[in-house]
Amino acid sequence: MRVDRFLSNLPRFNRQQVRLLLAERRVSVDGVAVSDPHHEVREFSRVCVDGEVLQPGKPARYFMLHKPQGCVSATSDPQHPTVLDLLDEPDKAELHIAGRLDFNTTGLMLITNDGQWSRRLTQPETKLPKVYLVETEQRIGPEYAATFATGVYFAFEDLTTQPAQLELLGPTRARLSIVEGRYHQVKRMFGHFNNKVVCLHRERMGPLALDRALAPGEYRALSENEIRQV
Ligand code: URA
Repeated sequence: MRVDRFLSNLPRFNRQQVRLLLAERRVSVDGVAVSDPHHEVREFSRVCVDGEVLQPGKPARYFMLHKPQGCVSATSDPQHPTVLDLLDEPDKAELHIAGRLDFNTTGLMLITNDGQWSRRLTQPETKLPKVYLVETEQRIGPEYAATFATGVYFAFEDLTTQPAQLELLGPTRARLSIVEGRYHQVKRMFGHFNNKVVCLHRERMGPLALDRALAPGEYRALSENEIRQV
């Protein structure tokens, strides 16, 4: 089979991405970098992208879960149920979470065994927006939007958050779009104004929005089209 067809057959790459990977010489077959899309891949060829071996025998898996409150974004926890406990799937140990949520945060959680795909979603460099609905204890002031757009200084990490967009939905309700996923980022951004976040829900990660048909605790596999959008 041609190497470009081998790569496009994997759910994680579309044809345009494959053309780019080859042109950038990020693909190797049996240890040799290849850029020719016609290059032949045989049954036992070792095909790598950025040094990662692609295993056509092990299909990539992608799930969207509506995370409920009161479960941990971890693969195991001695005390609490985890998001993986909600999945009725084989080989769960191979899966990981693309962008964790706090214990009481609800909403979109993406779970996969495809490390490159989840990195594209979560790396700040790709600038994919993560969109949250936020409910706060105090009123959200008119100055918040400008501060979030400039960035909030986090002393612990000694960094300033990347520009974020705030849309006011009510006196204590807003939609916040951020491109990073720092520890407790949304709560700490509102914490800058001593305003406590009392409810937090993730609506979207990049091109993927939480399916409204999923009740808290429910999940479904992503479609091929959804996988390719990332
Ligand atoms: N920011 C937070 O503070 N908590 C989350 O769960 C997600 C983003």
